[in-house]
Order: sequence, then C-alpha cells, then structure tokens
Amino acid sequence: MNFDQIIDRSGYPTFKLNKAQLTEHFGSDEVLPFWIADMDFQSPGALIAALTARAQHGIYGYEYKTADYFNAITGWYRRRHGWTLDSRQLAAVPGVLSAIAILIDQHSNEGDGVIIQPPVFFEFRSVIRSNHRRIVKNPLKLVDGKYQMDFDDLERKAAEPENKIMIVCNPHNPVGRVWTREELSRVGEICRRHNVLVISDEIHGDIVYPPHRYTPFVSLADELAQGAVSCLSPAKTFNIAGMVDAMAAIPNEDYRRQFRDFAHRYQINKTNVFALAAVETVYTQGDAWLDALLDYLQANINFLHTYFSENLPQVKLVEPEGTFLAWLDFTALGLDAKALEKFLAQKAKIAVSPGYWFGREGAGYARMNIATPRSVLQAAVSQLTASSINLC
Ligand SMILES: Cc1ncc(COP(=O)(O)O)c(C=O)c1O
Repeated sequence: MNFDQIIDRSGYPTFKLNKAQLTEHFGSDEVLPFWIADMDFQSPGALIAALTARAQHGIYGYEYKTADYFNAITGWYRRRHGWTLDSRQLAAVPGVLSAIAILIDQHSNEGDGVIIQPPVFFEFRSVIRSNHRRIVKNPLKLVDGKYQMDFDDLERKAAEPENKIMIVCNPHNPVGRVWTREELSRVGEICRRHNVLVISDEIHGDIVYPPHRYTPFVSLADELAQGAVSCLSPAKTFNIAGMVDAMAAIPNEDYRRQFRDFAHRYQINKTNVFALAAVETVYTQGDAWLDALLDYLQANINFLHTYFSENLPQVKLVEPEGTFLAWLDFTALGLDAKALEKFLAQKAKIAVSPGYWFGREGAGYARMNIATPRSVLQAAVSQLTASSINLC
C-alpha cells in the first residue's frame, strides 16, 4: 500500500471528475477536486486479488450469502469495535441512503417531521424531501472549537408528536465528531421518551482516530437499541462505494420484519457476486490496510494543521475525530457564504464543498476530502495561500 501514489482516475466515469458536474458546481472543470466523499487510494491488495479471481471464473450467476460471509462481518465488528453483532438482525440494502429512505417511508407519514443535526450530510435533506416529510433542525453547537449536540433543543423537537424520526450521523459528516456512548445514550433516551425512531448512519464508523471510538447505536442498552437502526457499510472504509452494498442492523423484530417485507416487495434485497466477494475479503483481510490508511489520514490532518498555522493562520481546521473529511473554518476571512464559495472555486481553484451545502449553519466553512496523496493536498493549500494574499 502506497498512499502517496497518484492514480489516474480519468479513464473511468469518476463522479468527482465529471466535467459537467464540476462546471455546474464550481463554475469550471479546471479545479482540483476534493468534494465527493470517496478516496483517491487503491483498495487493499487482497481485495483486488479476490475480485480479479472472481472475474476470471467467468460465471456470474445467482449466488447466496454464506455463513463465511456473515462471519466475516460479525468478526470485523467484534475485532475492531468490540461489538457482538447478531447477524440475524441484518437486512441487506443497496446503500445506506436506501435504508434511510425505507425507514422514513415505514415509520412516518407524509408531512411528518424528521430531525437532523446540521451542518450535516446534505443528502439527508434530499431523502426527507423526496419522501414528502418535513426537515426539523436540531443544529449542532460549536463550543470552544468542538461541535456538541443541543440536547435541550432535541428534547423539545422530539416532544412534538408529528416528529417521528431522528437521523444521527455517527460519526458526523462533515464536522468529524465521533459521538461518545454517553452522547448517543442521551439521544436514545430522549427519542425513546417521545417514541421517535433513531436512524444512525454509521457509514464512516471505521474511520476513527484514536483515542476516539465509534459506538454502534444499536450496541447501546437494549431498550434504546429496540427503537433504533444502525446503517452499516464497508463503502467508505475500503473505498468500495461503487460496489453498492450496505446493511441495516435492526434489533427490533417487528421493524426488521417490516423492513424485509418492503425490500422483498420492491425486490431490492439483491446483491451482486463482486460485492459478495468484496465484503468477505475486506472484513477478513483488511485490518492492516485500514490501520495504515488511518495513519496516513492522521498524517494528512497533521500536515494541514501545521501548514495552516505556519502559512495561513486565518484558516482553521476543526479537529476531526473521525471521517476523511476536513471541516475548514474560513470565518476569519470575513466573506459571506457566496463570496467564500466564489473565492475557493474561482480564485483558489479548489473544488471543496461549501459549508452552506450542509445547511445554513455551515456558512463560512468548507468540507475538504483529505483521502488523497499528500502531494495533492500540498498543491491545494499552496493554491489557497497564493490566492489569499489579496484577501489578507
Ligand atoms: C454520512 C453518509 N451517509 C451516506 C452516504 C452515502 O451512502 P450510500 O452510497 O451507501 O447510500 C454518504 C456518502 O458520502 C455519507 O457521507
């Protein structure tokens, strides 16, 4: 594994490099791209070998999930996170967002409220809206440089009878918090008191920097787990989002049956032979690769910290506890949301996600994907510094 290696992705329809998309969002395709949340690194060698062998077999017919497949998943969560996951609680879905959409459909009615914690992953808003539910905001608070949940506000929002669901981003995209067991338990208790279903999006759960620890929501006390669903996926961890395979861990038997019925009704409980091979391989052979990745990402974070404090002190990095997304604080530049967006895209020529995409609470900030070779990050911050000279 050589995370410094630059790998050309332009030979494939890579979303991050799509010229039309870049032009639409950043006004030009001549920008360094740090926006889409996948990595510029190759997946583990063991995975590439397993997929190559699978491809060479030449028959890609119907397959089923074996005991080895489920043991690989449960073994991973036991080893990495100290969690004994009962694989009978798992329901298959194409992606985490599909699981969220199904749960919204099943546990609320049109017009009901779904609580989210902005600034937060913008697709939550889109799924809520496309299911004709209302977005209810429980904004995070920034206290001494660290984002916190506002539990008093959450209690009020959860108490409104038409608010039926809360989506927790655990760990949180874009601010990088890895919620503690205590914080998640408080969320669980509030939601339980008011009969609000907790959907915990845990797609970033493996990308966590010590001493922080990811807590699967459904590993909390059983009375809280019964009112919650954890959405799990190897997509971010091993850079296999394009495999399209995820799962929902649903401890509550009734909810699980309803969920499976829905997936069956629409025939979306399928998988594909490559995903089957991939999941089993990464969860049995991916540990060393992930450890090395986490070291590299931590070094990228350290690099940004040092760079900004030495060269561009107006820009601050909100310390990420997890995820490969850096939440950059540009408020000291004194630009409004649109002016900052224009400055980053047109002057610095870097495609980072403007903070307001994550809700107006994110204005003045931007999210930068740091899962890229350090030399690429270096190029980006140099462009940023060169273009900031006129601003300071
Ligand atoms: C928090 C979060 N949830 C879900 C997704 C998308 O998941 P999927 O592709 O499995 O639907 C992303 C992708 O960036 C994400 O950051």
